[in-house]
Amino acid sequence: MGSEKILLIDDSPEILDNLSEYLTSEGYDITTTSDGTSGISMIEKKFYDIILTDMKMPGADGMEVLKFMKEHSPESICIILTGYGTIKNAVEAIKSGAFDYLTKPVKMDEIVITLNRALEYRNLKRENINLRNQLKRKYQFKNIIGESPSIQDVFETVEKVADTDSTILILGESGTGKELIARALHYNSYRREGPFVPVNCAAIPSELLESELFGHEKGAFTNAIRTRIGRFELANGGTLFLDEIGDMNPNLQSKLLRVLQERQFERIGGMKPIKVDIRIISATHQDLKKAVLKKKFREDLYYRLNVIPIEIPPLRQRKSDIPLLAFHFIHHFSKSKRKKVTGITDEAMERLMEYDWPGNVRELENMIERLIILTGSEMIDLPDLPERVLPPSSKEIGGTMDIPQEGLSLETALNELEKQLILQALNKSGWVKNKAAQLLHMNRTTLIEKIKRQNLHRSPS
Ligand SMILES: Nc1ncnc2c1ncn2[C@@H]1O[C@H](COP(=O)(O)OP(=O)(O)OP(=O)(O)O)[C@@H](O)[C@H]1O
Ligand SMILES: [Mg+2]
Repeated sequence: MGSEKILLIDDSPEILDNLSEYLTSEGYDITTTSDGTSGISMIEKKFYDIILTDMKMPGADGMEVLKFMKEHSPESICIILTGYGTIKNAVEAIKSGAFDYLTKPVKMDEIVITLNRALEYRNLKRENINLRNQLKRKYQFKNIIGESPSIQDVFETVEKVADTDSTILILGESGTGKELIARALHYNSYRREGPFVPVNCAAIPSELLESELFGHEKGAFTNAIRTRIGRFELANGGTLFLDEIGDMNPNLQSKLLRVLQERQFERIGGMKPIKVDIRIISATHQDLKKAVLKKKFREDLYYRLNVIPIEIPPLRQRKSDIPLLAFHFIHHFSKSKRKKVTGITDEAMERLMEYDWPGNVRELENMIERLIILTGSEMIDLPDLPERVLPPSSKEIGGTMDIPQEGLSLETALNELEKQLILQALNKSGWVKNKAAQLLHMNRTTLIEKIKRQNLHRSPS
C-alpha cells in the first residue's frame, strides 16, 4: 500500500497532530482540516480514498460530511471518529453508509487495521464491478453471432423483450445457445446489477431440487442442520434461470406453479411467507407442447412460463451462420490458446457446411477448439477434420449399384449394404463397439442388436 489519500477532519488540534504524524509515518498521504464545512469544500475539489471525520464539530457535523461524500464522491470511504457520548450517532452514520467508526481516544494499531480493511473492501468492490463489466461485455448482443434470417428473428425478439419483466421460455436443441440467450437477456435488462441465478432442473436429483429452489429451515428434515437459502431468494433483484424445465417432476411442477401464481413461497419447514422480486426465464430442449399433450408437463404451468417463447433454430437450419461462427471461434481460440491459426481452407469449410451438426453450436465450438490445439499449420485443412464430418466415399459405401434386368430385392440389397458398413465401422474402430456406434451415428445397443442379427464375427487375423 502507500499513497492512499486520507482526509482527516476533527476540531481537536491534538488529534489532528497525533493522527496525521502517525499515519504519514505509515505511508499515507494525509490532509487535515478542523471543521466540517471546509472538509466538504475539500471533498468537492479533490478525490480522497478515505475520509476520517469527527462527529461533533463546529460548522457541518460528521453526518453532513458523510451525506455530501455519498452524493459527490461515492467511491470514497467514510470512517467516523467518535467520543463515547456519540456512539449512538456513529451507529446512525453506519446505517447511512459510513464504513465503520472508531472511538476516541483512537488506538493507533486499531486505526491502521480499520484503514486496511476499508481499502481491502474497496478493492474487492472494484474487482467485483470489473468482473460484472466483463460479464456485461461478454453478453452484449454483438458477441452473439448469426446473420441468417431465422437467428436474426430471434435476436430481434431478444432485444425487444430484454429490458422488461416478461417471463420467457427459450426452446431449442442442445447446444443451440439457450443459456447464452438467457444471460444476454439478463445482462441487457435493468436487472443487470442483480444476480443471474441458473438452476439446472435435470442435473439436480428431484428430491434435492425443492430445497435447492426454495431453501429450508433448520430441522426441516433429517439432514437440515442449518437454515438454507434457496435459489429463489438468491435471485432476488435479478433473474432466475430454470434450465431444462421439461425435466422437472410433476410434484415440483405444482409447487412451482403455486409460487408463480402467488408470487411468494415458504422455505421447506418454514411458516413465514417470503416475497421476492425476480424475473423468470426458463429453457428446455424438449418439445414442451408434446409433453403437455402426454400429460408429462402441466398445461397451466406451461402457459405461465410460455409468456414469450423464443425458439432457437438448430444450426443445420441456418447453415449460412456456420462460416461466421467458425471464424469467430477460430479467432477466439487461437488467441486464448496462443496458437497462430488464422483461417480454414475452402475445402474444409465446405465440409463444415455440409455436416449436420447434431450438437449444434456447442459441437462446432468444441471441434474448432480441438482443431486449434491439434493442427500444426496456420490454416485448418481437410485432413485436420474429424472423420465424422468427412463424406463417406461412394466406393466405401459399396459403389453405385445397377439394378439387373431381372430386378433385385431392395430389402436384401439394403441388408447387404448395412452389413458391409457395420463391418467397415467395426474394423475401423478395432471392434470397439462404442467407437463403431459413433461412426455410424447410432447408439451402442442398436449396433449390438444389428451385429447379432447380421451374425457378424471378428475374423481371426
Ligand atoms: N450465436 C452464438 N454466437 C456465439 N456463440 C454461441 C452462439 N450460440 C451458442 N454459442 C456458444 O455455444 C455454446 C453452447 O451454448 P449454450 O450453452 O448457451 O447452449 P444450450 O442451448 O444451453 O445447450 P444445452 O442444451 O446443451 O445446455 C456456448 O459456449 C455458447 O457460448
Ligand atoms: Mg444449456
